[in-house]
Amino acid sequence: MSNQYEVLGKAPGSEELKKLSPNDNHITIKKISAGYGKMEILHNLDLFVSKAQSLCLIGPNGAGKSTILHSIYGFTNIFSGSIEINGKDITKLTPAEKLKSVGIAYILQDNSVFPDMTVEENLLMGGFIKDKTEESYEEAEKIFQKYERLRNRRNQPAKVLSGGERRLLEISRALVMKPSVLLVDEPSIGLEPRYIDMVFDILGDLQKNEKKTIIMVEQNAKKGLEFADIGYVLVSGQIAIAGKGDDLLSNPDVGRLFLGG
Ligand SMILES: Nc1ncnc2c1ncn2[C@@H]1O[C@H](COP(=O)(O)OP(=O)(O)OP(=O)(O)O)[C@@H](O)[C@H]1O
Ligand SMILES: [Mg+2]
Repeated sequence: MSNQYEVLGKAPGSEELKKLSPNDNHITIKKISAGYGKMEILHNLDLFVSKAQSLCLIGPNGAGKSTILHSIYGFTNIFSGSIEINGKDITKLTPAEKLKSVGIAYILQDNSVFPDMTVEENLLMGGFIKDKTEESYEEAEKIFQKYERLRNRRNQPAKVLSGGERRLLEISRALVMKPSVLLVDEPSIGLEPRYIDMVFDILGDLQKNEKKTIIMVEQNAKKGLEFADIGYVLVSGQIAIAGKGDDLLSNPDVGRLFLGG
């Protein structure tokens, strides 16, 4: 059977990946093999992201994109290899420790607002593991100052929010912990075009003005690669192609497989 993803022959090595993220390394994955239970999903995978850089992961369903985020956050079994943040080995930390001590926040693929809690209560949930609750209130206040859409609905149950506002709330809730790394799974899923643009604008603001490092998974490869500084194409748990976002947009293999061209 011929394989339409027969591009692994030219798979980039770690030196090539490193060149895409030359400065101030924030997140480094060195040769991890990881999965669920005893099943290995990611095979010998490398990944490099610099501070305040954005990386978009694309690839077919089941390739292991979400599993990369899960592995960084601590939801998988890591059989070998290591994950470092700012040069510190975090491979074995729990998700709570990662959120608290190294500032990694994870925005899930599926809707995760609490519909019957108010917008404000949802936001404050983001700081539930903070020792000082006043700090969560301060962060929530900053978010309300910045985003009028949430401010106007502050005391209403989250279920009244539109899809785009809900995604904004999910992102904002992660920000209450003041993370330096945002892991975002499918920011545009289920959103109308005008909300998709809003969500990417917000992520762009967080990267450029607040210097957050972003790793996202995006089914909408065009949007994701237009947004991100660099992109990796994942196929069967391995990096098949990597490049600057713009270069991948004009890469014929990427076009044929992921951009409908
Ligand atoms: N919690 C889990 N337990 C066991 N297997 C899992 C779990 N989550 C994912 N898998 C398996 O791991 C493989 C990779 O899944 P993953 O969710 O990482 O793919 P993906 O690239 O994000 O796909 P999609 O585009 O559909 O979101 C799949 O075969 C999936 O069935
Ligand atoms: Mg996924």
